[in-house]
Formats: sequence, C-alpha cells, structure tokens
Amino acid sequence: MVVRRALVTGASSGIGAATARLLATEGYRVGLLARRRERLDALCAELEGEGHLVLPCDLTQAEEIASALLKLEEAFGGLDLLVNNAGMGYRARVEELDPSLLEQVFAANVRGLLLACQGALPLLRKGVSPVVVNLSSVVGRRGVPGQAAYCASKAAVTSIGESLRVEWSEEEIAVCTLSPALTATGFFGSQPNPSELPDPDMSHAAAPAEVAAHVLALDRAPKPELTLRKKWHWLGVLSAIAPRVADRLLVKRVGGGWSAPKR
Ligand SMILES: NC(=O)c1ccc[n+]([C@@H]2O[C@H](COP(=O)([O-])OP(=O)(O)OC[C@H]3O[C@@H](n4cnc5c(N)ncnc54)[C@H](OP(=O)(O)O)[C@@H]3O)[C@@H](O)[C@H]2O)c1
Repeated sequence: MVVRRALVTGASSGIGAATARLLATEGYRVGLLARRRERLDALCAELEGEGHLVLPCDLTQAEEIASALLKLEEAFGGLDLLVNNAGMGYRARVEELDPSLLEQVFAANVRGLLLACQGALPLLRKGVSPVVVNLSSVVGRRGVPGQAAYCASKAAVTSIGESLRVEWSEEEIAVCTLSPALTATGFFGSQPNPSELPDPDMSHAAAPAEVAAHVLALDRAPKPELTLRKKWHWLGVLSAIAPRVADRLLVKRVGGGWSAPKR
C-alpha cells in the first residue's frame, strides 16, 4: 500500500487534532505542526501507525516555518497532502481593535498560511497526486459584526485558494478551500474577546471529527470549494447580489442584539 504523507498545521487541538487522528487511522504518515509541543507529543504517541513527526512551530515566524519544512523534507522526502488548518479568532468591535492582536491574527491566519504554501511547494512537487486543503470559514464569504479582523483574515484565505488553484494547476497540485461553520472546539474560548461579546449558540455546532472527514474526502476527490453549511453558502451569494437583504437575514441568524442598517 502506498502511504500518503500529510502535514497538518494547528494539530495540537480541535479540527487539526481530529484530522491528524483520522489521517493516521487511514494509514497516512502525518506531520503535526503547532506551537504547543507537549500537546503534539501526546497526540503523536496515541496516533495509529508509525513514522509521524512532531513539528513545533509558530506560524507567525518565517524562519520557524522554514526549519519545520526542512525537518519534514528530511523525514518524509515529499508531501502528498498539506492541511493549512492553524488559525486564531479575534472577537472585538472595530473601535476596540488592538493593533498588535490585529497583526497576530493576520500573521498566523494569512501570512503564515502563504509562507507554509510557498515553503511546501518543493515538497508537494515531489508528492503523489498532491492536494492542499486550506481551512477558511463560512465568515470568509460573509463578514459578521464583532469579528471584522477574523472575517477579513478568512476572506483572505478564500481568496488565496482562488489564486493558488489556478497558479498551481500546471503543477497538478489540487487546491481546496474548506469552510466550516461553528465547530465544537476550544476556538471561541481561547480567542481574545476584550469586551466579552457573547459566545455563539453552539447547540448545532459540528464535531471536529465531521470536519476532519471532509478534509479526508477532499484529499480523495478534490473540490475547489466546500462550505459545510448550505445556509451560509447562500448567504454569501446573497451578500454579493442583494446586500441589504443579506444583512437582515444575517442579524437574525447571528443573534447578539445586532441590528441591520436602516439606510
Ligand atoms: N471552531 C469553529 O467554529 C471554526 C469555524 C470555522 C472555521 N474554523 C477554522 O478552523 C481552524 C481550526 O480551528 P479550531 O476550531 O480547531 O480551533 P482551535 O482548537 O483553537 O485550534 C487552532 C489551532 O491552530 C494552532 N495555531 C494558532 N496559532 C498558531 C500559530 N501562530 N502557529 C502555529 N499554530 C497556531 C493552535 O495550536 P497552538 O496554540 O499549539 O499553536 C491550534 O492547534 C482555524 O483555522 C479556524 O479559523 C473554526
């Protein structure tokens, strides 16, 4: 059996950890990248199969990305699946944005993802039917109040997917944008939220393993874009053609006391 080699960023928790578990169960060799080394070590110890790799790395630091990818190349020789999953949220009204947190969000969610793609390209060229799955969000096609910085970073991820899938088509590297909706992870608990904007209603949140199953399915049958909640997909479409109607539908959907613009 040919063993596929994958790199999962943000593997220390949530969707990334679930994806690493599923890929290992399916026989992949997995590189686990994140900042919290002890969590990666613990996950690596419990993964099925052999030859997995722990790559402690802060994606906001270009030199750390380069050195992690060098280690990956030495160990794996090439890469068949890159899952750009790492990301951080930031809940704040625009008036209260802290410039250093703003930079951190874009450094991790956008610059880090671009540098990971750039650095991984030589490895993907040595891969077999190589696939990239970028984790965006339903808010990458429709901004929501109280999360302007995060939404803008995810809009950038969706845009990068559009550029890259055409740029890399001649390389035969498939690039997929996967946009989950609410997923039950520590994501909302760990993000900065200085004025304690209310948590979203997580009662219908997906399990991280459900999102992981979509990552695996995209590796097997790549699609340019996959949005995991149809209502959000159509809200994104509506926002482009009838923004006032979309605003009214959005405020009903997100709760939190926001109101639609009157003019
Ligand atoms: N949960 C949701 O409702 C939801 C919905 C739509 C999209 N998403 C997206 O799904 C992805 C995974 O989120 P999640 O829900 O699984 O959240 P999570 O449990 O908070 O996981 C985030 C992961 O990103 C890693 N990370 C953050 N900053 C990093 C950095 N500077 N360098 C390296 N790794 C970094 C974290 O690891 P360390 O802290 O160890 O570095 C962690 O492993 C994110 O891109 C998120 O935007 C989530």
